[in-house]
Amino acid sequence: MEVREAQHRIEELRTQLEAATRAYYVDSVPIMSDYDFDMLLKELEALEKAFPQFDAPDSPTHKVGSDLSGSYKNRTGTALFAYSKKPRQIEQANGFEQHPHRYPMLSLGNTYDISEIEAFAQRASKGIGNAFTYSCELKFDGTAICLTYRHGKLFRALTRGDGTIGDDVTRNVKRIKNIPQELHRPLGFIPTASRPEPWPEEFEIRGEIYMPYAAFDKLNSQRIHDEDQPFANPRNAASGSLKLIDPKEVAERGLECTLYHMLGEQLPFETHKEALTAAATWGLPVSDKARICKTIGEIEEFIDHWDTERKFLPFATDGIVIKVNELAYQKALGFTAKAPRWAVAYKFKAEQALTRLLSIDYQVGRTGAVTPVANLEPVQLAGTVVKRASLHNSEQMALLDIRIGDMVYVEKGGEIIPKITGVELSQRPSDARLPHFPDCCPDCGTPLVKDEDEAKSFCPNINGCPTQIKSRLVHFLSRKAMNVIAGDATIEQLYNLNLVDTPDEFYTLTKEQLLGLDGWKERSAERFLKSLDESRKTTGFDKVLYALGIRHIGEQTAKAIAKQFKDIDSLAAASREALLEVEDIGEVIADSIIAWFADDRNKDMISRLKAAGLQFELEDKEEMTTDLLAGKTIVISGNFSISREQMKELILMNGGKNSGSVSKKTTFLLAGEKPGPEKLKKVEALGIPIVSEQEFMEMIKSPEPVPAAQPEASGAPEKPEPKEGEQLSLF
Ligand code: IVH
Repeated sequence: MEVREAQHRIEELRTQLEAATRAYYVDSVPIMSDYDFDMLLKELEALEKAFPQFDAPDSPTHKVGSDLSGSYKNRTGTALFAYSKKPRQIEQANGFEQHPHRYPMLSLGNTYDISEIEAFAQRASKGIGNAFTYSCELKFDGTAICLTYRHGKLFRALTRGDGTIGDDVTRNVKRIKNIPQELHRPLGFIPTASRPEPWPEEFEIRGEIYMPYAAFDKLNSQRIHDEDQPFANPRNAASGSLKLIDPKEVAERGLECTLYHMLGEQLPFETHKEALTAAATWGLPVSDKARICKTIGEIEEFIDHWDTERKFLPFATDGIVIKVNELAYQKALGFTAKAPRWAVAYKFKAEQALTRLLSIDYQVGRTGAVTPVANLEPVQLAGTVVKRASLHNSEQMALLDIRIGDMVYVEKGGEIIPKITGVELSQRPSDARLPHFPDCCPDCGTPLVKDEDEAKSFCPNINGCPTQIKSRLVHFLSRKAMNVIAGDATIEQLYNLNLVDTPDEFYTLTKEQLLGLDGWKERSAERFLKSLDESRKTTGFDKVLYALGIRHIGEQTAKAIAKQFKDIDSLAAASREALLEVEDIGEVIADSIIAWFADDRNKDMISRLKAAGLQFELEDKEEMTTDLLAGKTIVISGNFSISREQMKELILMNGGKNSGSVSKKTTFLLAGEKPGPEKLKKVEALGIPIVSEQEFMEMIKSPEPVPAAQPEASGAPEKPEPKEGEQLSLF
């Protein structure tokens, strides 16, 4: 390659890789597959090697991707940071403070090629010169986390950030159920003067926060229902969830953690395996799937085994990590600028299937958006038969240059809806037909409109398109909105019979009316009306606002709006500027709100819903989150003045953990009226205190709510940071 051509390509690759890195780490919306990314990175590496005059220290080949929310780098304009400057810079960026990592948080060298694993083993063997072992582990596909424990208590949780500074997500991490806030003392541990605690006074343990498939499917179904953009895969869902502002929301996301790397000063272990085994005895989540291997043959066996078996795991994995197990040898091998020399990742290729595109359906959603859905010749992919795949929008169709009859590549990287990632042009049949995105709504025939800045087409017949009306009614009663027990078929029946056109009409229905309809009985009518009645009294303003189905107002946005404007009249009167001041509200959302309230039909409907008794203002009791119960495991028993569900919520809201059964780990039993005799007996035997409802309420009375991102109070002195260029002493 000519010099100028190489320089041009290097620049092009850097731009592409930087954009992809930002999309991946910061926006949690990937724009290219891992495989494509890795291939471009390898091409850049090779070019920089061949043309060293164009190598640059800030090239993506020398950096780890940054997940910092409000990038420290960008705001200071300088690259990374130097340890010697000891930047105790505590900045707020999108609600997260930033802290430096004690030890840089590096990436791993990776390959899709087994011969490169063999080369890694040979290099390690040559470097070490003695017998050693490997720890082979699953490569969990989530987002990296670094936990610091001081005196057995979770002190801080940082994201990878840019590898040197991370976002402080401690408050959120405390809501992840398998991360202990306090370590457990192993049975039989006897403290001595030299070893007063079973764990080092301070240590870091790193790992991955991931979202199991079940939680991911649940979250995405909800987002699809809300017409929010679903997460592309569990990894993006995990990183997006970890950066949520409200820790209570994080608790609901079902995140989990697995830890795979301990660091600290003079840790008392000789091997990585020993360190992780000890961590497991302290109650830290460590994978039980790791294996110690002695030979490359054993490593390959492990890889082959998990290449198949991983498909049956309840969470996503994208490869295998191979690490030198002996800590002294790890230290001897050291690091490159970007990754350890003592570990490597073998990555699995995303599974693809090639099948024929038979036809495309165009589906109308609740907000009128028309989505193309591909009907495929059924094909086996990652354990399921795929018949349908999303094509997103007309732009995506054009980008793929797709034709009906084409052979297409389908991928399922953990997504619930598989997607079409490419077309096999070499197999295009001569009679392949160009698909025609409809000009008119497939349901009501109204000409579609396209927003300037949106790739989507919409049916503008908001008040006349039956599909839109029906799905708005379904949304109104759905669990996260008014939470009324009613199936879609019931709602469709009421709509088809002209009994309900707009949500307020649900509240005018009578038992007599329902009993006159097909399939309704005394009991079902009563149950439905009771559920409606309860929901109108108990559903808070934010959920009512969400239930209205204003375009772009998802659950989160509805909460933010309710908090800011407090009641519907203030919201209706808000100017565009006032709306834009709300975090979460951009121009598209602001315009959507204004347009919605400009329609008199909507205003009239609000009046009727108000008359029906729905809540259109925020209740006084602001939801607050405190840490008053942090580290406490509470078992509840008996009846309280509020429901048990509400009691559990109070425990969670104040940072506590609720557990169903009494054990040594229980901090206290919260006993209402008539507590269970078994539980009482058990707490007595274990000497666990019993707390009454009144005492509990006193306990969680905090003078002031803890602000969203309170700095961690720490009286402990900081350890000096290693000097720039100093050899990192990890163990
Ligand atoms: S060890 C210094 N072990 O994969 C090396 N990493 O692509 C520390 N990952 O940065 C990493 N599973 O976020 C290690 N069993 C495992 C892993 C693992 C997933 C992640 C981690 C790492 C990334 C590299």
